[in-house]
Amino acid sequence: MDPADLGDQLQDVLLTEEQLHTRLDEIAVEIDRDYAGKDVLLVGVLKGAVMVMADLARRLHTPVAMDWMAVSSYGSGTKSSGVVRILKDLDTDLSGRHVLIVEDIIDSGLTLSWLLSNLRSRGPASVEIATMLRKPDAAKVQVDVRYVGFDIPNEFVVGYGLDYAERYRNLPFVGTLAPHVYGG
Ligand code: XMP
Ligand code: MG
Repeated sequence: MDPADLGDQLQDVLLTEEQLHTRLDEIAVEIDRDYAGKDVLLVGVLKGAVMVMADLARRLHTPVAMDWMAVSSYGSGTKSSGVVRILKDLDTDLSGRHVLIVEDIIDSGLTLSWLLSNLRSRGPASVEIATMLRKPDAAKVQVDVRYVGFDIPNEFVVGYGLDYAERYRNLPFVGTLAPHVYGG
């Protein structure tokens, strides 16, 4: 898909496909350096992190395993509920593992801080976070994030894994939608 496919549904392109990929190249270099000689377990948070997981994992030279978790804090709306449920848990035993959580976006940080303490309680050797996007102005809790793709304004964004009502995840770029899309 490209911006033209969205017609008047698209408001702005915030990050182009090229910007996303260039940044992932840089982050992959950092991860390879930081985890040299270690075996890493990438934990992707469904469904939003599918794109960044696929694109990041393929850039790494470090041997990795990939596992997935699904948690819910949002439903199909656009506001954080602060309530986190595990919809799908990991298949992997985390004891002694170097875990790198791969996220699409950190908004309030509530989901992630919950996830961090949950995974830390399972006896891993380490837990770090990589996120493609972060909204610093929306932070409600401070979370230590090792790898950040881009800090973005506190606006609802779609694309590159992120949805509105399950649509737009397959946009290769990150953008905002016109107000009429939200049925305003
Ligand atoms: P919190 O607030 O807990 O939220 O950090 C993290 C999760 O909320 C979703 N989220 C978004 N999804 N556009 C989206 O499509 C956004 O702008 C947005 N902000 C937060 C997302 O699932 C993320 O993992
Ligand atoms: Mg998500």
